[in-house]
Amino acid sequence: MTKKLFIKTYGCQMNVYDSERMAGALSAHGYAATDQIEDADLVVLNTCHIREKAAEKVYSELGRMRLLRDQRRAGGSDLTIAVAGCVAQAEGEAMLQRAPFIDVVVGPQAYHRLPEMLAQRGRVASGIVDTDFPVESKFDELPAVSTPSGPSAFLTVQEGCDKFCTFCVVPYTRGAETSRPVAAILAEARQLADQGACEITLLGQNVNAFHGQAADGGTWGLGRLIRSLAEIEGLARIRYTTSHPRDVDDELIAAHRDVPQLMPFLHLPVQSGSDTILAAMNRKHRAEDYLRIVDRLREARPDLALSSDFIVGFPGETDQDFEATLRLVEQVRFAQAFSFKYSPRPGTPASLMKKQVKESVKAERLAALQELLERQRRSFDENSVGVRMDVLIERDGRDPGSKVGRSPWLQIVHLDGPDLSVGDLVTVEITGSHPRSLAGRLVSPPEKRGRAA
Ligand code: 5AD
Ligand code: SF4
Repeated sequence: MTKKLFIKTYGCQMNVYDSERMAGALSAHGYAATDQIEDADLVVLNTCHIREKAAEKVYSELGRMRLLRDQRRAGGSDLTIAVAGCVAQAEGEAMLQRAPFIDVVVGPQAYHRLPEMLAQRGRVASGIVDTDFPVESKFDELPAVSTPSGPSAFLTVQEGCDKFCTFCVVPYTRGAETSRPVAAILAEARQLADQGACEITLLGQNVNAFHGQAADGGTWGLGRLIRSLAEIEGLARIRYTTSHPRDVDDELIAAHRDVPQLMPFLHLPVQSGSDTILAAMNRKHRAEDYLRIVDRLREARPDLALSSDFIVGFPGETDQDFEATLRLVEQVRFAQAFSFKYSPRPGTPASLMKKQVKESVKAERLAALQELLERQRRSFDENSVGVRMDVLIERDGRDPGSKVGRSPWLQIVHLDGPDLSVGDLVTVEITGSHPRSLAGRLVSPPEKRGRAA
């Protein structure tokens, strides 16, 4: 008898990828995925801990799960509740104390043990916690993603982070930085391409810190890996996220110059434009270092567009510090960006720093920064009008015959293309720019798969 699995995923693309892998591991144990929670026998909440109140949101979601389970039990059936992801890692045993009705708590490094934990749960009354960092790699144990969910697939190449930015929980929840061996990555990429993926996004919390063991006994950096991936037939687009400025090396910059499949869009978080704040954040780079990297990247790939993350109201941030952030933004001109108010995360050094910034000041600074970033995003999109570009078709649009795809710069493009299929790479002329997307007109019919975008 097949059981039904419902996974709710919060947070970053690493979690999306992990959820797919968990679904793969559980399908080998008789669980079929459903997107209807009402049908599920097993619910997995794959949680995110990066910002404040994440744990609270999970507990309130768990409250709803408990009600659902009570209803099930009243009707003679049951519901198993598992919590995965970074909140599970951070809270561990404490989760079971606060919500004893949870069946399994599993951290990101122990997903390969999930089927076994669920089987055990049938035999023991209490919940089971596994948030260790085991010696064996979960990658060796979990099946590779069996089918990419569209023409665009994720591939985790690296996990964890050793940077210890003083605001961030990742080094505590995801553990030390580790890279997958090159051969395993290339094999998974070939499998994804065989199954129809034409775009691969390489994932890692600190993806350009990648240093994978290669068959020749040496280690490869991300630039070298990208060159090798570009040789795979059918892979038209390669992306990677999220990067740290400190780990942008010559080899990676050269890959942006030489590899046409490497898309001209880079998410490179800077967090602040003030050297005092960058030092307090333990970012290991100054504003000037960031600007220099951006110059070098743009020299290598003149059409490169940038995205970034910003935190406003970090402890001790003065008006002058904040103005330095605005200046950096003016200098770089971002195509898009994410910005957040600093939120103290328990257990991180910054949460203990004196001179926490008032909420009202944080809100003011965030509004000012977002206004500037939004203006830059709009002007980037408006400058696309009239430009011809490759668009990868990702899905059908709302109107009959319409399609939705992505530009090389991750912009959403709507176009009319009744004869187009998902996965086609077509040349499109951009005819208009809307608040969250572009409109385009088909210029050429689909290219044969496997050529560079
Ligand atoms: N407060 C606010 N933003 C944070 N981020 C990470 N930790 C915090 C925090 N404590 C932001 C950073 C990071 C992004 C993923 O989330 O900008 O790059
Ligand atoms: Fe967190 Fe800094 Fe590591 Fe990014 S580089 S995951 S912000 S500690």
